[in-house]
Amino acid sequence: MSSSVHPLSSDHLKAAVGKAAAEYIKPHLEYSSIIGVGTGSTANCFIDALAEFKHLFDGAVASSEATALRLKERGIPVYDLNSVFELEFYVDGADEINQQLEMIKGGGGALTREKIVAAVAKEFVCVADESKLVDVLGAYPLPVEVIPMARSHVAREMVKLGGDPVLRDGVTTDNGNIILDLHHFHMVAGSKLAPTNLENAINQVTGVVTNGLFASRPADTLLLATQDGVKTIKAR
Ligand code: A5P
Repeated sequence: MSSSVHPLSSDHLKAAVGKAAAEYIKPHLEYSSIIGVGTGSTANCFIDALAEFKHLFDGAVASSEATALRLKERGIPVYDLNSVFELEFYVDGADEINQQLEMIKGGGGALTREKIVAAVAKEFVCVADESKLVDVLGAYPLPVEVIPMARSHVAREMVKLGGDPVLRDGVTTDNGNIILDLHHFHMVAGSKLAPTNLENAINQVTGVVTNGLFASRPADTLLLATQDGVKTIKAR
């Protein structure tokens, strides 16, 4: 039956790529291995697939309280990052990803811990369905985690950079901070707003904890769920 007649649903694509990511790391697992695990609906599918061979590795480091809870519920031990020397893999979703494997993340508000765990990992494996792959980042609003007392100052500075900040109503991050979502950035490569430039510029503003651009540390591998199966794309 042709997939164009009955296209696979978003849930089906997420489940397929979550399973593909578990299979991708499985041959590399040792009994002492600890895996970095991201946050979101696609990362959740990865956790479910990973749990099927939890006897093959030691445990995981979680990028959010929600992920820690899901890991524990499935019998996977959760470690504090400070007690872990190295992570072979970090597996996480993205809100947008480009051909350079630069990403916008943080739609679920977990961007800071995601960035920290990703920084420790040797290989960042991004799991996404094909709707997330874009030529130019920025249609998805860029999340910025901000210390609450700096909200107005940071918002004014974001306007100077060309963004349109909107407070994410009613959201407090796992770190006790707020999120500003920045609209109307068109992150064209080679421009002032190229992803690495913008990531660095936002990080310079006092009161910013992190922004959701993963450009200085992009993914190393993208597992992309398509109607024709899961494709593996490596960073150039
Ligand atoms: C969480 O803060 C985000 O970075 C998620 O990884 C990202 O939003 C992707 O989530 P979904 O897999 O639910 O689309």
